[in-house]
Amino acid sequence: MTSEPTPRSKDEADLLDLAGRRLPGGVLGGSRQRDDLAFVVKRASGAHLWDWSGREYIDYLLGSGPMFLGHGHPAVTAAVTEQLRDGTTFFMVTEPAIRLADEICRAVPCAEQVRFTSTGSEATFFALRAARAFRHRDKILKFEGGYHGSHDYALMSQTPKSPKAFPAAMPDSAGIPHVIEGEVLIAPYNDLPTVEALLAVHADSLAAVIVEPFQRIIPPREGFLEGVRRVTQRYEIPLIFDEVVTGFRFAYGGAQEHYGVTPDLATYGKIVGGGFPLAAVAGRADIMSCFDPRTMGTSTFVSQVGTLNGNPVAAAAGLASLAALREPGVYDRVRGIGGALMTGLADLVKRLGVTAQVVGHPTVFDVFFTDTPILDYRATLTNDNRKLTRFNEACLKRGVLKGHSKIYVSCAHTEDDVKRMLAVFEEALKEL
Ligand SMILES: Cc1ncc(COP(=O)(O)O)c(C=O)c1O
Repeated sequence: MTSEPTPRSKDEADLLDLAGRRLPGGVLGGSRQRDDLAFVVKRASGAHLWDWSGREYIDYLLGSGPMFLGHGHPAVTAAVTEQLRDGTTFFMVTEPAIRLADEICRAVPCAEQVRFTSTGSEATFFALRAARAFRHRDKILKFEGGYHGSHDYALMSQTPKSPKAFPAAMPDSAGIPHVIEGEVLIAPYNDLPTVEALLAVHADSLAAVIVEPFQRIIPPREGFLEGVRRVTQRYEIPLIFDEVVTGFRFAYGGAQEHYGVTPDLATYGKIVGGGFPLAAVAGRADIMSCFDPRTMGTSTFVSQVGTLNGNPVAAAAGLASLAALREPGVYDRVRGIGGALMTGLADLVKRLGVTAQVVGHPTVFDVFFTDTPILDYRATLTNDNRKLTRFNEACLKRGVLKGHSKIYVSCAHTEDDVKRMLAVFEEALKEL
């Protein structure tokens, strides 16, 4: 597996050079590898991928989460191939889109109806718009450090370097109109008394509370989600769970099944599209009816149109993925593999005497280089980020691909991958 000795091929060097000239930063989004470690993906299968120089990587990035079944799952490939033969997009309802909406409603406790989008960002954007229309209020409350995609309302206080006093919002990007800052209130994750105090003052101006039930990789404290549910119910404020990461990962019914707390709306992405661009808003029928074009002209009608909404190829991939996840034992197995990796990494950290801790869920977790308990965003600021970057680079040099602060585990990872990964982790930790 170790890919270090294989030099970068001329083809790959040329592609990287072209990317550097034609794509800002040579990349597709916010993260980029160190120049000498950058590579271009050629193909992938199961939990492994290969670059244009023929180097192999164990993939713990998994497309940033969608590839929970692993790359090229045969049932997903077959479903997509069949749909490709019948046409790829129509701007009309199709059987796969209808059946996927039905399956989401069967799986997810809060889901009575579904509206499809192409990305998770759009799903949270439109869930918020529907809540505003339903409640006839404008402001939203989100949690510091919570990520809900890249739209203007979501990119508030996700990564503030020197956070302000709650509930003041700080934009995470240039180009966001300043007026939006006044429309978003920020609360500390896992701090129910502060949430209750903020709602006591601001409930009447709030359209919604949006939360990642498991924020980035921080689990909710016992009683936190239940408390947020209780207080939002008291003030009749729609509660939105952003389940783009947790949906169909923590359990078939997502975080709401796993934690036993049912919100009013939830957003889905990643796994639900089976590796294709599809995401969704799901929830209570009375709120979802704001999307119904028959209400056009009323004060609650929400305009939400997207050329590729519920695209049949993506919906076929999503349906086939969900069918594979319904096979008996799938979640137990992936939790077992991920749990072994998580515990193995925690044991290594302890044995090597590194100041660090492993945080998360067996299917998505990572290491923080700090001994401050990680309960909220501010605690994550104590992480030695340079060390984490060096750790990630040391892993990548040895053929292990992970996110900057996430290790995603798939159903395709094996015990052998865990063994190889732990050997790499050990070397990487020793190199720090
Ligand atoms: C919790 C959460 N919400 C929303 C999004 C945005 O999804 P997308 O990247 O599909 O726009 C993400 C993406 O990682 C996410 O993790």
